[in-house]
Amino acid sequence: MKYPAAVRLVEVGPRDGLQNEAAMVPTDVKVELIERLADAGLPAVEATSFVSPKWVPQMGDAAEVMARIRRKPGVSYPVLVPNMKGLEAAIAARAEEVAVFAAATESFSRKNINCSIDESIDRFAPVCETALAKGLRVRGYVSVVVGCPYEGDVDPQAVAHVAKRLFDLGCYEVSLGDTTGMGTPARTQRMIEAVARQVPVEKLGGHFHDTFGQALGNILASMDLGVATFDCSVAGLGGCPYSPGATGNVATEDVLYLLDGLGVKTGVDMTKLAQAGEFICQAIDRPNASRAGRALAARARRQAA
Ligand code: HMG
Ligand code: MG
Repeated sequence: MKYPAAVRLVEVGPRDGLQNEAAMVPTDVKVELIERLADAGLPAVEATSFVSPKWVPQMGDAAEVMARIRRKPGVSYPVLVPNMKGLEAAIAARAEEVAVFAAATESFSRKNINCSIDESIDRFAPVCETALAKGLRVRGYVSVVVGCPYEGDVDPQAVAHVAKRLFDLGCYEVSLGDTTGMGTPARTQRMIEAVARQVPVEKLGGHFHDTFGQALGNILASMDLGVATFDCSVAGLGGCPYSPGATGNVATEDVLYLLDGLGVKTGVDMTKLAQAGEFICQAIDRPNASRAGRALAARARRQAA
């Protein structure tokens, strides 16, 4: 098994995690979470999304979040934008990095952003062009890269095709989202091999959800093929509150425990990260979905007793 000397962890909890919370999370809490995550050494903390508040009410305070966070030098705070309106709002909020998000299946594209895959690429073209012309960095996402909740198994070639289109629009990296968590290490490798024939593997990120408990295995399988960027969510934030059994993104604490154990450098401090996880779980009254996070919190309680 091969693995890189260093991995870049992109923390997506404040956006991908919190966007699913049914009860509105106070802006103060979001700001403190983002600052704690940056202070833990994460090089990128996806802060929020400039999407329609009718579609995702939880992200309706995007401008306020961006205005209030203390920005740590060297840390990137990407925000999702689905269209020009979102980009304009992100620029007004002094975002330096934006992310556009497409899907590998027509059904998911329609459900998520209300348009076909082709229409989404047409919509992203001016977004990417304008953002790049203004000196912003643009990241791309492809959702449902292994399994789709509406169409089932996804053809790796379809993923490769969409990833290439985002890369050609100028995305510096394309994050491959196993949105449903249906991936296994073997399926993940088949998908990455197909995509890497279209987009250089060092320009790919892995974005795994732990619904079937396969996320860490999928990360190892991805590293074996040369992927060195992974999205993760503190305390495993995410999942749908109305879908029993659905879980969130792979927990940052679990990924860090794996990488620390392999001697792979990330620059992230486990103690501060675990404290950020406990902070958000207490603030929104949610159990900590990270096994490493729970174990570390229990150890800290024993030591304090
Ligand atoms: P639509 O209804 O087709 O758009 O939605 P529209 O242009 O007709 O606009 C509808 C209303 O929204 C209008 O307001 C617009 O002004 C407003 P009204 O005139 O009715 O008052 N609007 C906006 N407001 C604020 N910011 C904007 C914006 N755009 C329009 N940017 C649209 C199309 C794309 C807007 C909508 O479908 C949308 O916002 N979708 C976002 C969904 C979303 O955020 N999903 C979660 C992120 S993706 C994800 O989580 C997966 C990922 O993490 C990977 C993985 O996990 O695997 C990336
Ligand atoms: Mg996700």
